Amino acid sequence: MFISKVGEILANSSSLEEAFKEVLKVLYAYCNVNYSFISLFDPKRRLLKIVASFGLNERQIRQATFKSGEGLVGKAFKYAYPIVIKDLSYKGYLNKLGLRECLDEHTLFMAIPMKAGFQVLGVLGLFIKLREDLSLERALEQFQSIAVLLSLAHQLGERFSQEKITWEREKEILTKALEDNPVIDGILGRSKAMLQILRLVKKIAQTDATVLITGESGTGKTLIAKNIHLLSTRRFKPFIVINCAAIPETLLEAELFGYEKGAFTGAYTSKKGKFELAHEGTLFLDEIGDLPLTLQPKLLRVLQEKEFERLGGEEPIKIDIRIIAATNKPLELLMKEGRFREDLYYRLNVITLHIPPLRERPEDIPLLVEYFLHKFSLHYEKEIKITPEAMEALTKYHWPGNVRELENMLERLVIFSEGIISIKDLPAYITGETSKGLEVGDRFFSRISEKEEILEALKKTGFVKSRAAKLLGLTLRQLDYRIQKYNISIPKF
Ligand SMILES: Nc1ncnc2c1ncn2[C@@H]1O[C@H](COP(=O)(O)OP(=O)(O)OP(=O)(O)O)[C@@H](O)[C@H]1O
Ligand SMILES: [Mg+2]
Repeated sequence: MFISKVGEILANSSSLEEAFKEVLKVLYAYCNVNYSFISLFDPKRRLLKIVASFGLNERQIRQATFKSGEGLVGKAFKYAYPIVIKDLSYKGYLNKLGLRECLDEHTLFMAIPMKAGFQVLGVLGLFIKLREDLSLERALEQFQSIAVLLSLAHQLGERFSQEKITWEREKEILTKALEDNPVIDGILGRSKAMLQILRLVKKIAQTDATVLITGESGTGKTLIAKNIHLLSTRRFKPFIVINCAAIPETLLEAELFGYEKGAFTGAYTSKKGKFELAHEGTLFLDEIGDLPLTLQPKLLRVLQEKEFERLGGEEPIKIDIRIIAATNKPLELLMKEGRFREDLYYRLNVITLHIPPLRERPEDIPLLVEYFLHKFSLHYEKEIKITPEAMEALTKYHWPGNVRELENMLERLVIFSEGIISIKDLPAYITGETSKGLEVGDRFFSRISEKEEILEALKKTGFVKSRAAKLLGLTLRQLDYRIQKYNISIPKF
């Protein structure tokens, strides 16, 4: 009956040491075991040491250590058999606990090996006054069962703590790896610069600080702004984008601040502006370099006071927003030219993230190529691979339109390829084979030069330059530059 109690204690306690103590208490309560101890073998010091006891004081615990084979405890351990003495004056009993003098003559001492399989882990030592209804054989049998239970519990505990150490170590390694290699879903990069940016993005996301993202067109500014929002506590609130270059100056103010009914001709109803829509979320001011001078002080006021009025409105509206701005124009230069206010610049420029152009981080290109190949292969339900030579050519190219240009290029390559993209599938301006390109292959790209490609894109898009630029992965300015360079004439409609 007390054996099941022991089993219960061992199964339910969180610390083995506590469980051992509880078990010894049970032995006292149920079996007249007035003093007891559990000694475990410490392989480092090659000693049996008491790890739990009942009725013993600190000094006794410290003194009662045994080498393997020393005294009755050491012998029970070494030879793996139980020893029982009926008389404590027996000379093989070393009396390290000094109990001989205080125990009466009916007290037995038992040293029972704690076995787990073939291994002996320690010794259960008991001073017991046997009840009359319990034979010595029966008592010994019971205590041996308990010793087995204790051993098993100990072994399990050891294994568990060993595993725990392994888990902790693995966790540590993983956390460190994550810190060293910060991963953000959807932003690829293994170059030093990109890893540093990803690390910063994670940190910045934890704050509410205003961020200015700079970098050439197509480097990933919008992608990063979105991810700062998604990693922040505002992620379940709106992410509102306003492109300062795309909206005519006259409408921009109404777009940003909203208006009240009757604020101007045509304002038949009132309307919330982007600031209000972004409340508790993030407002992304794209192409901030194009924000008209007249609106700059108004934006500055919102940034400073977190408060504004709708057009035609009196009531100040309070908002809680996080601002991220991006630009591909050098704001410092605009400032010098008087096209960007210095005070606004310093307000926005609390934290700057500069995304370097792709040509300055060619290590990222193979990663991006594989990623886009995979993405477009899935999209167009094809299975397209790339030869190492083609990969090398793509890696060496200077990508003036950055990641966007690379992405668009791969989309077209996937569309026009069957199975494998090899070097002759690449446009001549990438491989540098302008002259050979014409004869080499009969595939789409090798047939045409950059000029022809631009012409083709223009024709396809009905000479709408902005759409052609998008198709080519170029900015409007880059396209304009090439149109001039190749002297392409745009028909006037
Ligand atoms: N590191 C990256 N990993 C994966 N995709 C990327 C990465 N950088 C950019 N892209 C992809 O490239 C394209 C262009 O990126 P994005 O629109 O963010 O550039 P941008 O700097 O905002 O350009 P613009 O100045 O023209 O607004 C997007 O489709 C984006 O998802
Ligand atoms: Mg953008």
